[in-house]
Parts: sequence; structure tokens; C-alpha cells
Amino acid sequence: MSHILKVENLTVKLDGRTVLEDINLSINRREIVAIVGPNGGGKTTLIKTILGLVKPFTGNVEILGTVPKEAVKTGKIGYLPQKTEIPRNFPFSALDVVLLGLIGKKIPKKEKIKLAKQYISYVGMEGCENKPYGRLSGGQQQRISIARVLVGEPEIIFLDEPSTGIDVVAQESFYDFLEKIREEKEITVVMVSHDIGVVSRFVDKVAGLNRKLHYYGHPKEFFQRHILEKLYGTDVELIVHSPECVACEHFHLDFRKEK
Ligand SMILES: Nc1ncnc2c1ncn2[C@@H]1O[C@H](COP(=O)(O)OP(=O)(O)OP(=O)(O)O)[C@@H](O)[C@H]1O
Ligand SMILES: [Mg+2]
Repeated sequence: MSHILKVENLTVKLDGRTVLEDINLSINRREIVAIVGPNGGGKTTLIKTILGLVKPFTGNVEILGTVPKEAVKTGKIGYLPQKTEIPRNFPFSALDVVLLGLIGKKIPKKEKIKLAKQYISYVGMEGCENKPYGRLSGGQQQRISIARVLVGEPEIIFLDEPSTGIDVVAQESFYDFLEKIREEKEITVVMVSHDIGVVSRFVDKVAGLNRKLHYYGHPKEFFQRHILEKLYGTDVELIVHSPECVACEHFHLDFRKEK
């Protein structure tokens, strides 16, 4: 399988501090990959570096067969940044927000609106075109934001914590939706998540990041004490029910601070 993204020996320093150290990873087309790790572990910085928004100290990023700055210009990369608070009086409709995803595309306005409406119904938000974006619920805003990312028909999308603030049931349907995107649009998905138990059931690979990449591979082997301690520290008591556990339908994971 051919890779769509390759990161080699990547080290990033911010304000003189090493935030990412010697990262190596490769992502194939149509894979769904989750980046997990503690707050401040460098997840957002890794995505920003892949997108050419942060400069590597050493190492290389190759995406869509070229360097980030060139790849971004092709319009084949979608990016949903980590959530920022949207004011309730945010003066744009859901349709306006989705249209932002078509800025710079040389197609007539009428076509853009048609395309944006198609994607609004694709994310299950038909009929909400004219609603103020700021008045939608968190989950509805997330769907509209995803429509904005998808409307430009990218080949690879980066979603920085897209499921934050979404309840578990909605999260599960969100991951089903990502799988549908992958199948129907042949898209590669890279997402940051803190819900490692839930996410691990849906993704092809997990990247466990805490300055260094402590784990990169199938989710099944991720749930090992020495890996999780490297990521989240040794002061956590870890309860893992393995996927083979008959009492448990799912991976089940819990962290408790030791007394
Ligand atoms: N612009 C910046 N200048 C200096 N340091 C920064 C900058 N952005 C991030 N950092 C630092 O880099 C480290 C990694 O931050 P980053 O935002 O990549 O973490 P993260 O894994 O995305 O965390 P979270 O889960 O909280 O979103 C943190 O220690 C942060 O303080
Ligand atoms: Mg982040």
C-alpha cells in the first residue's frame, strides 16, 4: 500500500524547548489513525508541523508526495483545528461556515452553494442551512465543521479533537460516520482523541505521543502497562479489560490516581 504521509526523524522545538523528539511514522491511503496522549504531549504541534504551520528543527515531512507547503496549496488537505469557543452570536449561518471550505476554489457561487448544501445533508444536517452557527449544539456545530472540511473534497483530513464534548453514543455514531467517509470518499483520516477506549475500536492505527512517539501500531497491542505509563506517567493505576474478556463487550479503560 502506498503512503500518503511520511514523517521522518522529526524534532520540533518551540521557545527552545523540545516538544516533539525524533518522530517517525507513515500513514497509508484510506487509513484511519488516532493520535492520543496527555495534554501538552505535542499532538496539535505534530499536526501543525505536518501542515507546514510549524517548522521542524530537524527531520522531514512528506505529504501527498511533496513538502507540506506545496501539499497545502493543492487543496487536497482538510483541517479541523482544536475547538475554540464559538460565541452564541457568531454572525454566520451553517451554510456560510461550510462555504468557508470552498474559499479559493474556482467554481461559480451557485455551484458552491449547491455543493455546500449537499455536504450539509451528507453530515445529517439537512434543513439547518440558514440556522445561525453559534446557536447550534456542540454536536451539530461539529457536524457542520466536518462538512466544511469535506466540501473541498480532500484526500486526507486532520481532525484535532473532533469528539470533545460529545456524549459517548454520539461519539460512536461519529466514528461510524468517519468510516463511511473513508469508504465512500476514499479519504485518509488522522484524528486527535482523548477517548482512547472508544477510539481504539474504530481506528487502524494508534499513535501514542508524549514528546516521543511511544507507540505506533494496531490498537490491540497499545493497551500495555509499560506503554500507557510512558504516555500518561507512572502514578496512574490502570484497569484494562482485554478485548478477549468475555465479561466485557468492549475495551474498557479507566485511570485512577494512586492514593
Ligand atoms: N506557540 C507555542 N509556543 C511555545 N510553546 C508552545 C506553543 N504551542 C504549544 N506549545 C507547547 O508545546 C507543548 C505541546 O503542545 P500541544 O498543543 O502540541 O499539545 P497537545 O498534545 O495538543 O495538548 P492538548 O491535549 O492539551 O491539546 C506544550 O508544552 C505547549 O505548552
Ligand atoms: Mg492539542
